[in-house]
Amino acid sequence: MALAADILRSGGLVAIPTETVYGLAGNVWEPKTLARIFEAKNRPQFDPLIVHVANPDNADEVADLSLPHARQLAEALWPGPLTMVLPRKPRVPDLATSGLSTVGVRCPSHPVARRIIELAGVPLAAPSANPFGYLSPTRAEHVANQLGERVDLIVDGGPCTIGVESTVLDLSESPALVLRPGAVSMEQLALLLPSVQLFDRSTQSPRAPGQLPSHYAPRLPLHLRASGTLPSARPNAMAVALCFGAASYKNITASGKFSRVVDLSARADPVDAAAVLFSVLHELDTGSWSELWAERLPDCGIGRAVNDRLYKASVKD
Ligand code: TXA
Ligand code: MG
Repeated sequence: MALAADILRSGGLVAIPTETVYGLAGNVWEPKTLARIFEAKNRPQFDPLIVHVANPDNADEVADLSLPHARQLAEALWPGPLTMVLPRKPRVPDLATSGLSTVGVRCPSHPVARRIIELAGVPLAAPSANPFGYLSPTRAEHVANQLGERVDLIVDGGPCTIGVESTVLDLSESPALVLRPGAVSMEQLALLLPSVQLFDRSTQSPRAPGQLPSHYAPRLPLHLRASGTLPSARPNAMAVALCFGAASYKNITASGKFSRVVDLSARADPVDAAAVLFSVLHELDTGSWSELWAERLPDCGIGRAVNDRLYKASVKD
């Protein structure tokens, strides 16, 4: 952690574990470092970065928390998997915000992430540590395989416990809008912010690339279907089914249509499914399968975030 902080202070890039996914971190005050982050990820510069702080109180260094509900949300949900989009402080480099008047800020709960930010003594810009558009990394080896030589150091904190990226909540809009569902659920947010709405891709145009219909995608084509319908699918040879729950597993296996069936959670718990989702996709994507088929989870709690990632990973057919 001390080495990571040294590298970060001198402008380097360090992949750090967080409770959601691994981040590719750099000193937010160094435009040159920010440019290296975009380059390493092959990320278009119109996609703004999330700034990570060690403690909720440090968010004021980069963002204006005087908007209604911002401080209450920070108090209730930080440290944790929530990114708030807030008016930026003028000092934040344009490259971090893609020139927007807002900045995404998050205080992660992972003790290693927090300690590294604290030791570095500066807020860290950190997108997910994957090539732009590809699957997010939930293990240090995913980062090593995808970005390898492009980072100065990878800190291995073991598998990420949550497994899907943070909830992105835009408080600069009225009503407040969830741009990306995550572990902080709509149900949880609605208790604190009754007017909150979920970005609706059928009626609204995307404001952030994470909202693009194709993102977080594996190399293999993935077909997403309603829960319980995979036994009647028409897969090609060497297809893999991703299912949710022991009952579904049994029915799909009995259909004999898939070369392999992977259950994201035998006890049908969406929290378990989120935790293994990207690991399972990484593993399948390097195998000799022809295609993936997945069934949707119930659309509530973190299940909404899993469905969102499966949708973005899917072929739109
Ligand atoms: O869980 C996470 O959020 C992880 C870990 C490393 O913290 N980070 C992450 O960052 O997922 P990234 O860059 O892969 O996704 C950030 C998302 C993008 O879709 C970006 O467009 C959006 O947040 N975003 C960032 N700043 C924004 C802003 N000012 N306005 C709108 N969207 C913003
Ligand atoms: Mg990302």
